[in-house]
Amino acid sequence: MIDMPSEVLRAKLVAQLKDEEVIRSPEWEAAMLSVPREAFLAGGWFEHDGGGWYRAASLADEPELIRRVYEDDSLVTQLGGVIFPFQLDGRLLQAPTSSSTMPGLVVRMLEDLQVSEDMSVLEIGTGTGYSTALLTHLLGDEQVTSIEVDPDVSARAGAALGGLGYWPNLVVGDGLAGHPEGAPYDRLIATCEVRTIPAQWIEQIKPGGVILATVGGWIHSSELARLTVQADGTAVGRFLGGGISFMFARPHQPPPLGLLPDVDSGDCRGAIYGPEILEDWTARFVAQLAAPQAQKIVLHREGRDEHLLVDVEAGSWALLSRAADGWTVRQEGPDRLWDDVERHVQQWHADGAPPLERFEVTVTPREQSISWATARS
Ligand SMILES: C[S@@+](CC[C@H](N)C(=O)[O-])C[C@H]1O[C@@H](n2cnc3c(N)ncnc32)[C@H](O)[C@@H]1O
Repeated sequence: MIDMPSEVLRAKLVAQLKDEEVIRSPEWEAAMLSVPREAFLAGGWFEHDGGGWYRAASLADEPELIRRVYEDDSLVTQLGGVIFPFQLDGRLLQAPTSSSTMPGLVVRMLEDLQVSEDMSVLEIGTGTGYSTALLTHLLGDEQVTSIEVDPDVSARAGAALGGLGYWPNLVVGDGLAGHPEGAPYDRLIATCEVRTIPAQWIEQIKPGGVILATVGGWIHSSELARLTVQADGTAVGRFLGGGISFMFARPHQPPPLGLLPDVDSGDCRGAIYGPEILEDWTARFVAQLAAPQAQKIVLHREGRDEHLLVDVEAGSWALLSRAADGWTVRQEGPDRLWDDVERHVQQWHADGAPPLERFEVTVTPREQSISWATARS
């Protein structure tokens, strides 16, 4: 039995997000109050069931879960690139591949997008269509284009949006290529994470326009960046803070690890830093800049944990093992990954360990560079 109607729960969530100063403008408050999130979760979602397992949940089976829909939480809606909740009876151990992002983050990003009612917006990662609905509510059908890589996910979003009377331009395809047919746009917002901002995004946004996207890497540190497109075809901006992460745009997912290297070979030395430096979100981001192709895994060998950084493409690796008085690192391959990480992290410390909000992101048609402002600058 439903104990509290959707409108009441929605108003409570909106009040909470206003109190937290996540909702900052009356336009987005009105949009949040108007769009029922449950319309985008009609096929159910997956709940964590411990140890990476998921089980299905749905309002059709348990109407009282409407309260869950209005918690400020992300709800996974697809696993392993193919499985939707209605297809699962029991439990499943698979990686999430689509979700309804937590409403607080959705609206925070819409606020950060600095959009006004006369603008056109390109969204990357339609997902359930909830964020697309909020954009369409404010801007109208004609001004919103949303790209989703997965045709089934896009079709479900289209049905939910149409059911509420929203008809934005939904495109199925790789959002990393943008949608040149509708360009130029005033704004681009990505609700999947990228390693680098694609040149096509910059080409398709008007000079002075804004790109809002989460930039991260395979050691799993990331942050939301807001870039302004310049007249010379580059884009420049800063991270906005909050430690934001998303599921990767599918072409930016890490390659399979394959066969692990023979970690008993390589050169060995005492390490300056152990793997604990990677527990700090910003230091981990710095490490990722130093070893941009590296992935990190923990190996359990001979009764102890060892930490392996591996760059599958280049064939470089670094293994950190505990020693009596700290850590040793064993490395092999064309790059000495931990040497590079230590050098970068030492420099970042010497520069006063600035937070990610003081990092600048510059993207040209050929490359992306990320650097931090020193304490003196
Ligand atoms: C976190 S979900 C989006 C949440 C959505 N905005 C919402 O409010 O429900 C991320 C989505 O990005 C999609 N995606 C991943 N890679 C993509 C790509 N290269 N192009 C377009 N969409 C992509 C995924 O399939 C997934 O549906």
